[in-house]
Amino acid sequence: MKQDESRLFRMSVGQNIVKELSKLLPTEINTHRIIDHNDLMGTPTKDCQVFINKLNEVSEGKIFLLTFESEMEEIKRALISLMALIGMVLQVEKRDNSFWYSLGVDLMADPNAGNGIGENPFHIDMLTFSHFPLGMTILCERPDSKNGGSTLLSDLGVHSKLPQKYADVLRKKRFTYWKDEGLEQVGQHLTTFSILPARESSRVRFTSKLSKWFNLHPNLKLNQREVLIHAIMQYETLLKRNQIIISLESSQALIFSQLHYAHGRTALGEGQIEVNPSLSRQLWRAYFNYANI
Ligand SMILES: [Fe+2]
Repeated sequence: MKQDESRLFRMSVGQNIVKELSKLLPTEINTHRIIDHNDLMGTPTKDCQVFINKLNEVSEGKIFLLTFESEMEEIKRALISLMALIGMVLQVEKRDNSFWYSLGVDLMADPNAGNGIGENPFHIDMLTFSHFPLGMTILCERPDSKNGGSTLLSDLGVHSKLPQKYADVLRKKRFTYWKDEGLEQVGQHLTTFSILPARESSRVRFTSKLSKWFNLHPNLKLNQREVLIHAIMQYETLLKRNQIIISLESSQALIFSQLHYAHGRTALGEGQIEVNPSLSRQLWRAYFNYANI
């Protein structure tokens, strides 16, 4: 089946734009926990502003696949400036001192985790938090030399195709999930939540791992539990059916909204043990919020 890429926009970003954006970022910026346009030095030129305006459409559900031809450190700086101009960039892990989080390969990690070698099924990062980051940027430094590890995105709006009885149960505040510790800038951990948004919110809180986790409300009867598990699995099936597969190449970045998309990863290629660790797949991830929330 041909994938629907109607909301995926591929753009080449010239070295002049990267240089300009990179220069806007103060050198001591990693000591900040949040940055926005007020922290930048100067304002973008007209040409650069046109580019930023385009990227602002990430908040409307557009996905941007940017291809750079600059040095990795300069790309990283330019992207942080760009996210600060779209809204605000967040350091969400207290222990870190960078806006970029390393996504390397760890042969010993849980294969389904971000740094594992297996498939990472569809999910939203920090889904239990009241204000999980809405925007995400994934930058590729080195792809998997064994030709695996593609990024998966799927439109969360496919829940509209769920049978009514499943949509109804996913709207009930009956789900619990483990808490990521040591986070900040993401609001409160919700001990129980609904997967589909209640009227006052537009956040879907989905992870495929919920069905395996089976960690639902302890007071649920067995038959109620089964309906919930089926509903989660049906949603995952719809997400898989509508998935976009993107094999990021070196110096490419993907920018998308967690309000609109679940993300995941295909398994890395066979034979990871043969790969020199200094040459294994290396991605970087950063989080931001849009200005209009
Ligand atoms: Fe993730």
